Amino acid sequence: MRTIRVEVPGAAYDVYSRYNSLASLQKYISEAFSAKKVLFVIDENVMRLHREYLLETIDVLSAENHLVIEISEKKKSIDTVELIYEKLISVNAGRDAVLVGIGGGITGDITGFAAATFMRGISYIQVPTTLLSIVDSSVGGKTGVNFGSIKNIVGAFYQPEAVFADFKFLSTLEEDELVCGLGEIVKYAFLTGDEYYSKLKNDYRALLQLNDTVLDYFIAESVRYKADVVARDEKEAGLRKVLNLGHTFAHGLETSLNFEIKHGQAVIAGISCALELSRLLNLISEEEYTSSTDFIKEFASLIHFRQPDLNIMLNVMSRDKKNRNGKIKFVLPVSPGEVVLDVEAEKNNVIEAIFRGIEPFVYEK
Ligand SMILES: NC(=O)c1ccc[n+]([C@@H]2O[C@H](COP(=O)([O-])OP(=O)(O)OC[C@H]3O[C@@H](n4cnc5c(N)ncnc54)[C@H](O)[C@@H]3O)[C@@H](O)[C@H]2O)c1
Repeated sequence: MRTIRVEVPGAAYDVYSRYNSLASLQKYISEAFSAKKVLFVIDENVMRLHREYLLETIDVLSAENHLVIEISEKKKSIDTVELIYEKLISVNAGRDAVLVGIGGGITGDITGFAAATFMRGISYIQVPTTLLSIVDSSVGGKTGVNFGSIKNIVGAFYQPEAVFADFKFLSTLEEDELVCGLGEIVKYAFLTGDEYYSKLKNDYRALLQLNDTVLDYFIAESVRYKADVVARDEKEAGLRKVLNLGHTFAHGLETSLNFEIKHGQAVIAGISCALELSRLLNLISEEEYTSSTDFIKEFASLIHFRQPDLNIMLNVMSRDKKNRNGKIKFVLPVSPGEVVLDVEAEKNNVIEAIFRGIEPFVYEK
């Protein structure tokens, strides 16, 4: 089994990644938390599709110690967190209780937030079951829920005790959910450059077909990259902002399209817009721009959306919680492996970058 250490100061933990890594969860729990109350919070679809595997692998799983939660951005809410508090109280859980979240990013974010806040903090373990949650959301300790219509506005930085990434779950994912994970992997390719970038060019189709070796490489390298960034800047004071590459445009796109596209698809289109803005601001050479946009256009066959409402998009982008002083701050690519942080741009350049960046993906012109 691969073990990747996330060296967050004062809260270091391991990510165990492998096909069937779940088989080691029970032993880990009994060694690290013997005699403590464990509550499993399980994504409804994972429970439906993997019930037998879960029951077979986790002996201690019983009717009393698990809670199945409904999954949607609407249900990523304080109400669902309350269900977890109620269940914890009903089983007399104390400060030494352990929560185990089994599901995608929504389950992980909700479970982590419940763990961060119940009795001022109890332990939790992540078992990510989507490609996105394996390569991204289960690592780094960002937890939280949506409130009103604002995404992830309530939350806490709170690190898990361990992450068990089991590739076996991925076989039941819909293709657009795999593309969601791919979106973050494309982002890492632009951040890491080098071998990761060139391998992705050759292997992204094999990745989407869940080829074991390819999956293992991209999962391990993505987790390693994110672990390194988070270890150096847990609370996003500086370096961690690199992980927002493409995300400012992506959030605007998702909202203006009424969430008709998936986050990972929006991230790929967002990176395309970021490349255009880099070019308009002369941050990228013509040669790098051409080869990077050619690469991004390869994904156009996986991503289609209608023309977004530009006003809504700009509004959302300027409300992003990562902005300061009302100015939109961008992470912009210079070359694979090099980005610049906190770039501000004139509105006319942002608009032009959006038009050019989304062009390969828009079907109504
Ligand atoms: N904490 C972070 O650092 C961070 C980073 C990125 C994204 N996020 C959050 O993560 C969420 C998105 O995560 P996600 O893409 O995993 O989405 P998700 O949790 O909504 O899961 C996507 C869909 O797949 C289903 N599913 C989960 N595992 C499955 C499996 N093995 N087989 C079949 N279906 C399965 C879910 O029930 C859901 O319908 C967003 O809310 C986002 O804000 C958090």
